[in-house]
Amino acid sequence: MASSGFIILYFTFSYISAKKAFVTVQCKTEQERQYGQKSMLDCLVIVSEEVADPQILLVNWKKEGAEEPLLLYDEGKTEHLPRFSFAESPWNDRNMNVSLLITDTAVQDEDVYTCDVMMISGGDSSQTRLKVTAKYKTPNVTLKPDEINHDTLTCNTDGGYPEGRLHWFDEYNTEWTQSAEMEAKQTKSGLFQLSSRLTLLSGIKFSKYTCVVFNASGGREDEAILEILLSQILQQGLDPVHKVVAPLVVIGSLIVGLLLTLLYYKRRRQHDKILLFFSGNHQGLNTHDSNFEEGMSLKLLYNSIYKI
Ligand SMILES: *[C@@H]1O[C@H](CO)[C@@H](O)[C@H](O)[C@H]1NC(C)=O
Ligand SMILES: *[C@@H]1O[C@H](CO)[C@@H](O)[C@H](O)[C@H]1NC(C)=O
Ligand SMILES: *[C@@H]1O[C@H](CO)[C@@H](O)[C@H](O)[C@H]1NC(C)=O
Repeated sequence: MASSGFIILYFTFSYISAKKAFVTVQCKTEQERQYGQKSMLDCLVIVSEEVADPQILLVNWKKEGAEEPLLLYDEGKTEHLPRFSFAESPWNDRNMNVSLLITDTAVQDEDVYTCDVMMISGGDSSQTRLKVTAKYKTPNVTLKPDEINHDTLTCNTDGGYPEGRLHWFDEYNTEWTQSAEMEAKQTKSGLFQLSSRLTLLSGIKFSKYTCVVFNASGGREDEAILEILLSQILQQGLDPVHKVVAPLVVIGSLIVGLLLTLLYYKRRRQHDKILLFFSGNHQGLNTHDSNFEEGMSLKLLYNSIYKI
């Protein structure tokens, strides 16, 4: 820890250096680094040529407003917190590169850092801001009916920082984001989870929906495309038939029962799916391949009804 003697020296030298500026510390004002990676806060001590054999007495790296140093070189000894070290390793007091290295950069490391340096010939201090970024994962899109049976697209992504946005586009690149609801949650690690719901109030109108994740500075990062299968569109097209069949079930259960029996024997292999259809309980659309089969069996049923 800095002895009081050094602190007095420091202020004395600061006073001198304010007049003559023998020593200056130069840090980049802002440095952007990646989450989970190593971050170097680049700082260099510049000593005027008049100073022969420049030697550093003290280096103190700390976060703005914090008392505890992250890295302290004083009286020939170096102390540091676990993830912090000199970028130049091994470092010695004649090395003017006092850059700080942070390993496994966390969201919490995003802050303003101060580097104080003291030499026989003077002292100086400089600040640098660390900005942390993390790329969002490739989003996932699912298609499911909501509580009141509207087809709803949900897009999820996580692992990004700072807070990003999810946008929706159809196959003609028309944006649907305005009709969607987005939610952003910050996890314990500080990274964001984004989720967006797009309810298709008037049904599936397009064969392709794209969910794009944009980062905090508006850069397009990644996307997920949901292609709706032909069979699923067929199923949608069959909706009016569904409405015709429903009253039939109520009014003439006998006829339906007969029809079911008939179909059972005719199309034994599609038995399950047809039953499902009549009970008005058929599964919501999803991207699964089995829907193709389901779509086809409904198509067959459609044909049967109209032939009868
Ligand atoms: C300081 O040292 C690090 C690690 O060796 C190096 O990457 C960086 O470029 C140096 N900075 C300057 C300003 O020389
Ligand atoms: C998307 O789904 C895959 C496979 O289920 C999973 O491994 C991945 O973590 C998911 N991505 C997100 C952002 O949820
Ligand atoms: C956002 O994405 C753009 C383009 O991919 C990239 O250049 C930029 O650094 C990213 N910004 C953040 C804050 O992640």
